[in-house]
This record gives sequence, structure tokens and C-alpha cells, in this order.
Amino acid sequence: MNNEWSRLKTELPELLEQSRKEAAHGQVAEYIPELAHAHAYGLGITIADLQGNVIHAGEHELPFTLQSISKVFTLLLALMDHGEETVFAKVGKEPTGDDFNSMLKLELVEPGIPFNPLINAGAIAISSLIKGRTPQEKSGRVLEFFHTIAGDNSLAVNENVYLSEKRTAHRNRSLAYFLKENQVLEEDTDVEEVLDIYFRHCSIEANCAHLAAMALILANQGVDPATGAQLIPKRYVQIAKTFMISCGMYNASGEFAIQAGIPAKSGVSGGILTLVPGRYGIGVIGPALNSKGNSTAGVHLLESLSLSYGWSMF
Ligand code: DON
Repeated sequence: MNNEWSRLKTELPELLEQSRKEAAHGQVAEYIPELAHAHAYGLGITIADLQGNVIHAGEHELPFTLQSISKVFTLLLALMDHGEETVFAKVGKEPTGDDFNSMLKLELVEPGIPFNPLINAGAIAISSLIKGRTPQEKSGRVLEFFHTIAGDNSLAVNENVYLSEKRTAHRNRSLAYFLKENQVLEEDTDVEEVLDIYFRHCSIEANCAHLAAMALILANQGVDPATGAQLIPKRYVQIAKTFMISCGMYNASGEFAIQAGIPAKSGVSGGILTLVPGRYGIGVIGPALNSKGNSTAGVHLLESLSLSYGWSMF
């Protein structure tokens, strides 16, 4: 066992408790009513290394829905289904500087495609690219992909969160219809079916260990470190990680890149999936969010870890 790992084991609980205080500056997401029940002061982390060692601290067993974290993996599945050319005809490769659910640039900037696959509009466009004969088959393939990447076939959609979002997603619904108007969603696309695939993947429930396992595959260039199987082509993992750096924390991505310097993806339930390339997969949960929609305590914890262990890629 190397020095850093044993230091991490000793120091992680204390670092976590220091960061927990930051939750006081955040608020649990309420626009999806079912998310409002989350424990605002909960904070948990799991770190997994390539040798199969795992460290946990805090409430790492708290279940939460993946929300926007799932967008990284639907992007990967769409790339595996169609290749780069088709995918990037539908979504761009640039950050927006706007909120994750903004529709501003869809109208302002030609050709009216979402700026990137991690904002809501982009992820909805990506949902329309998942292959399958029926909507059930498409959502089934997405869930299966998560089973493979997380190494747990019991991962499932939290039906309450799914229905809660489906009932209240007026903004996402308008984004999706706008995408159809702009021909990002094809003429024969049933918009409600595409939204259903999107709501379902956002509502897949997981915990920190699942995020760490998924992140470890990305940290290891798409190869499952336990079996040596190439689960995702290296090129697509490279694309996903680049988006995580430039857009993964929304319009706080630049700040997180400066402070922590590692690819990360957040979700409104307070989860963050991140990784130290070639070394660790990391999952964090802390439901209280800052104004940009990222976990206040989770961001603080990752920034202090990166600073004290020198994890920045830059
Ligand atoms: O579409 C939504 O608004 C949510 N299902 C996901 C948004 C999200 O997680 C943004 N993250 N910070």
C-alpha cells in the first residue's frame, strides 16, 4: 500500500467533517419536488483505486439519483451507437456560460443545436440518439450500460423521482419541443418518448461506491481494471473527460478546473463523479447545492483533497 493511500485513509474523515460545514451555504434542489426530501447536511465519499482498494467516509451509502451525472454515460452510449460524426451533428463541443437548463443560445446562435451534450438541451438531443426499436428497449439499453459500468445489475430507476420530474419538467419539455422546431430532433421523433428516456436516466439511483466504480473505468481509459475488458473505446472516454473538464460543473467548470483540476460531473441531487486519471475513481454525495447547481460541501471536499494531494492535471 503506497503512502498516499494510507494518508488518505487517515485524513479523509477529518477533511470530510471540515467540508460538511459548507452545506450551510447551500440548498437542496426543490424544482424536482421529490429531491426536496434529501438530507441537506449529508456528505459522503468513496475513493476506489485500480488495484481494487476502496476507502469510504461519511454517509457514502446514501442513495441518490444520478441526474446530470448520467449525461456523461448516455453521451458515451450514443457515441458507441453512432460514432462522432452523427453525435456532433446534433450537439456542439463548447461550454455555454449559461445555466444548465437555459434555452437562450438555442435561439441566439446558429445553427440552433445545443452547445454541448451535458446541458439539459444537449442531453435531451443525445437521448434521441440511443438505439432501440421501442422506447422501453432504449431505456433498457441505457440501464444495462449503467449495470456494466457500475458493476451492479441491481441499479434501477427511482420511480418516485422519475414521476416527480416527468410531472414538473415544463422547462425541459419546452427545450425538447424547441429542439424539434430546430430539427435537432428529427421530424418523426416523438418528443415525449425522448423526454421519457431522459427522465429515466436522470432518475437512476446509485450511491458513492457506484460513482467511484464508474469513474474508475473513465480513469482507466475505458478498461475495467478488474477484468481487463475494454468497456468503452479510449477515444470516447477521452471526449467524455474533456467535456467533464470544460462543462461538467456547468458555469463553475472553469473555477473547478483551476481549484481542483480533475474531470468531474455534478448532478442536482448533489452527487459528483470525478477521477484522478490513471489512479482513482471518486464518488461524492452532498445534497445542498450552490447557486450554480453543484454540491457546496462536495466541491469544497474535492478542492481540498486535490490541493493537499496534488491531483490537478494542470
Ligand atoms: O433535467 C434536469 O433538470 C435534471 N434531471 C438534471 C439536471 C442536473 O442534474 C443539473 N445539475 N447540476
